[in-house]
Amino acid sequence: MSFLHSSFRIRPLQLVLVLIHMIMKPTRPGRRRFIVSSFCFIVFLCILASINEVRFDSLLKFGRCALSSIPSQSSNSSSNNFLATNSSSDQIRILIGILTLPDHYHKRHFLRLIYGTQSPVGAKIDLKFVFCNLTKEDQTILVALEIMRYDDIIILNCKENMNKGKTYTYFSSLPDLFNSSDGPSPPYHYVLKADDDTYFRLSNLVESLRPLPREDLYYGYVIPCPSMDPFVHYMSGMGYLISWDIVEWIRESEIPKNHLEGPEDKVFGDWIREGHRAKNRYNAKWSMYNFPEPPTRCTHELWPDTIAVHLLKTQEKWIRTLQYFNVTKSLKPSKLYHIP
Ligand SMILES: *[C@@H]1O[C@H](CO)[C@@H](O)[C@H](O)[C@H]1NC(C)=O
Ligand SMILES: *[C@@H]1O[C@H](CO)[C@@H](O)[C@H](O)[C@H]1NC(C)=O
Ligand SMILES: *[C@@H]1O[C@H](CO)[C@@H](O)[C@H](O)[C@H]1NC(C)=O
Ligand SMILES: *[C@@H]1O[C@H](CO)[C@@H](O)[C@H](O)[C@H]1NC(C)=O
Ligand SMILES: *[C@@H]1O[C@H](CO)[C@@H](O)[C@H](O)[C@H]1NC(C)=O
Repeated sequence: MSFLHSSFRIRPLQLVLVLIHMIMKPTRPGRRRFIVSSFCFIVFLCILASINEVRFDSLLKFGRCALSSIPSQSSNSSSNNFLATNSSSDQIRILIGILTLPDHYHKRHFLRLIYGTQSPVGAKIDLKFVFCNLTKEDQTILVALEIMRYDDIIILNCKENMNKGKTYTYFSSLPDLFNSSDGPSPPYHYVLKADDDTYFRLSNLVESLRPLPREDLYYGYVIPCPSMDPFVHYMSGMGYLISWDIVEWIRESEIPKNHLEGPEDKVFGDWIREGHRAKNRYNAKWSMYNFPEPPTRCTHELWPDTIAVHLLKTQEKWIRTLQYFNVTKSLKPSKLYHIP
């Protein structure tokens, strides 16, 4: 990389020297004017080249930051470099917050596997586990160790609860948590709230978001199950997504603040209605659905065009889902193991 840069610099420099040499020689005035303007042009080119170099470097840094948020084994592999040079401004930035409990260590371990092995193209996705204040002594050690290793946990200033405002605390805390002047603005285009028994297929999620507006958006699985109209009720708590401007509205408005109790997804829908937010809505049904069993009006069989499967309450349901989507197909062959 540095070799390329330096060779790029030397060439204009040599040209400049040659030109200076020519200017020193006595020449006709017309020719001199030509040379002087060429000289200016080349100086301009040099400045441009150095600016581009700076830009390119910061782009690389940005790419590395994006990557470092995903736990990975080594940071020098060629695939990382590929991703690093490919981070561009049209990348969709998504924060996925999985609301869970401090003691659910195994669940977090499992979900890190599920999401750490997905690599959607054209998006920067940060996954965070979200819970309220720690309450036990062992948590202060174990959760701190997890943070040291994975740095993917947000501890909100609240007491654990399901339907007494944890979702409000989550969304309303984000603008302060991610308020930094050196990152991109907004820090994320979209923020997703997900349950820990929902499986999101990130590539499909990203593809579904690509054509959608990045403002005033409310996205999810419309409740009640038979309804296909996102403008009537609300999105299921299995996982709904909003644009960053709505996150900021939640922080500032009095409407959510005064209405915290109740089923969190329904309450969220009430805020949106009362606040006249989300003129853009997207119903991701039937790419989002409940696991096929037990059969209800909220589900159907597993099928390829899937963004999320919900109610994965048992290991068996997770395994059947992961098998169906061939998640281990890209396992690389090696002498070190044999998996039938
Ligand atoms: C990564 O590469 C840099 C230089 O390119 C080197 O200094 C560093 O030790 C490498 N890190 C690993 C983990 O290989
Ligand atoms: C970046 O990724 C896109 C796919 O989103 C791909 O088409 C493009 O070739 C990549 N660019 C570079 C420089 O690798
Ligand atoms: C959560 O913990 C912080 C720091 O220990 C404390 O200041 C805050 O009062 C706690 N919040 C609740 C709701 O318990
Ligand atoms: C973010 O920080 C800036 C300056 O540090 C401050 O002016 C602004 O109000 C903050 N925004 C939020 C949402 O906290
Ligand atoms: C999984 O792999 C099988 C066998 O290659 C294929 O038939 C099936 O369509 C794949 N399923 C999905 C959801 O891609």
